[in-house]
Amino acid sequence: SRSSTALASLNRPTEIDVQELLKLLNNRPNGVLVAEDGVSEDLTRYNHDWTNQYKGNSRVVVRPQSTAEVSRILKYCNSRMIGVVPQGGNTALTGGSVPLDCEVVLSLEKMSDIHSLDPTTGILTCDAGCILQNLLDFAAAKDHLVPVDLGAKGTCQIGGNISTNAGGSFYFRYGSLHANVVGLEVVLANGDILDMGCTTANLKDNTGYDMKHLFIGAEGTLGIVTRAALLCPRLPPSRCTTLLACDSFDNVLNVLEIAKKSLGEILAAFEFIDGPAMNLVCQTQSKPLPLPASQDCPYYVLVESHGSCAEHDQAKMDKFLNILYEEDYVVDGVVAASLEQMNAMWYLRESCNPSCVSSGYVYKYDVSLPIPEFPRFVEELKEALNDRTFCSLDYFNWGHVIDGNLHCNVVCRGNFETNSSLRERIDRYVFEGVEKRGGSISAEHGLGQQKRKYMAKLHGSETLSKMYDIKRLFDPNRILNPGKYLPEDCR
Ligand code: FAD
Ligand code: MLT
Ligand code: ZN
Repeated sequence: SRSSTALASLNRPTEIDVQELLKLLNNRPNGVLVAEDGVSEDLTRYNHDWTNQYKGNSRVVVRPQSTAEVSRILKYCNSRMIGVVPQGGNTALTGGSVPLDCEVVLSLEKMSDIHSLDPTTGILTCDAGCILQNLLDFAAAKDHLVPVDLGAKGTCQIGGNISTNAGGSFYFRYGSLHANVVGLEVVLANGDILDMGCTTANLKDNTGYDMKHLFIGAEGTLGIVTRAALLCPRLPPSRCTTLLACDSFDNVLNVLEIAKKSLGEILAAFEFIDGPAMNLVCQTQSKPLPLPASQDCPYYVLVESHGSCAEHDQAKMDKFLNILYEEDYVVDGVVAASLEQMNAMWYLRESCNPSCVSSGYVYKYDVSLPIPEFPRFVEELKEALNDRTFCSLDYFNWGHVIDGNLHCNVVCRGNFETNSSLRERIDRYVFEGVEKRGGSISAEHGLGQQKRKYMAKLHGSETLSKMYDIKRLFDPNRILNPGKYLPEDCR
């Protein structure tokens, strides 16, 4: 069935379409994967998201190997009015990367060449399908880092990161992808290829509208990112990581304040994990609690510095820690003494999401709030759901506290199926809680299928109408990622 009105004007791919698409890819074996009744490919992994909450029914996956092939595929699908879902690593958390029904999935997984890293400027040029971890490794071997880093790095692709404007753990230090993408190559729905500073890749270029920004965070609704040029800073010669336990959120705020003051320009990351989330991670990953003296501590904080002089940075870190202990802002803490210990600390942080998803059905929220409001926001949500008429609920919270970005997760154990009235209740309290605090209902995970319904409440009609104009300009037939991002009932 046409599960969304977004699909009503689009055609399902037929057997003839499959043959045509195959020809466009020079009949390359595995260029087009097809699931026909009783036959061939298992396309399951392209048809559900990482949380297993969003499911599609695509029976055709195309896997181009070049920009020219992406262009031919889109031109064909546009002429036939066939919906196309761009897919990277399929790790998005709001359902943007999976089809609603039987749209064609265009996977970038076969476009993963890293082209160059200019040692003078630090500009790295690569295909959109590069897995983030591979880019991090490539850049590290050349003494650079990639300015985005997140727990899904082993699977997510740079094209997906750019299309979601992913934030991650070092956003505070290195800035957003809007700041670090210096060039982008994009294919539009009609097959036109736009080279927006990707080939020339200048650090500064003020010639004309800087259109690449429209595609950063557009979740594949305006075009398909095929290549990118990224500004990569040098690897910091000195890195220091510490894990701290606090007995109150006020003390998390105190630690943050002291970190900003005493670590200053070397402060690179400031993340928090609440006590229930840390306990869950340790149980799920079979690890001991990292700070034994902090049993039942309500908050943990992971702080990292990136600097260029180990002696100088160590002195700053010592000063920072001394103040925390003198002022009783922390209950316990440990400083990583080796790269292995540093990685172990980050492993705890990056295991929050997988541990949570494996523990039950997760209602996942990703909000921006004034930082001091984090605990009250969670308490209000708990109070609102206190009657527990549905199932027993657990709350796990963590996030990029320095960016005002709270990841708030309500887990329903026992009943692994989604409960729509519970979701509606949580949605309502989250939306109202965010709205009254002047925050954002999507700090970094995007809109996808989950949050598009809010667009009409979030933006004035004038702004929304311009967004529709932009969509019409780049994708007039609305074949790209239909049913995501923009709601269809307010054209
Ligand atoms: P996909 O999931 O495949 O796609 C995401 C969206 O982009 C979809 O709408 C898709 O259609 C579109 N898209 C993908 N590739 C292209 C392309 N080449 N051209 C056009 N459109 C495209 N997110 C954060 O922001 N910060 C985090 O710290 C973070 N941590 C995470 C940790 C874990 C364990 C997991 C599972 C997810 C995390 N995420 C985080 C969410 C997710 O990883 C990011 O949104 C990531 O950027 C998605 O990349 P992807 O390649 O998997 O994209
Ligand atoms: C994170 O920071 O861990 C991610 O954004 C994923 C999540 O919140 O679940
Ligand atoms: Zn995050």
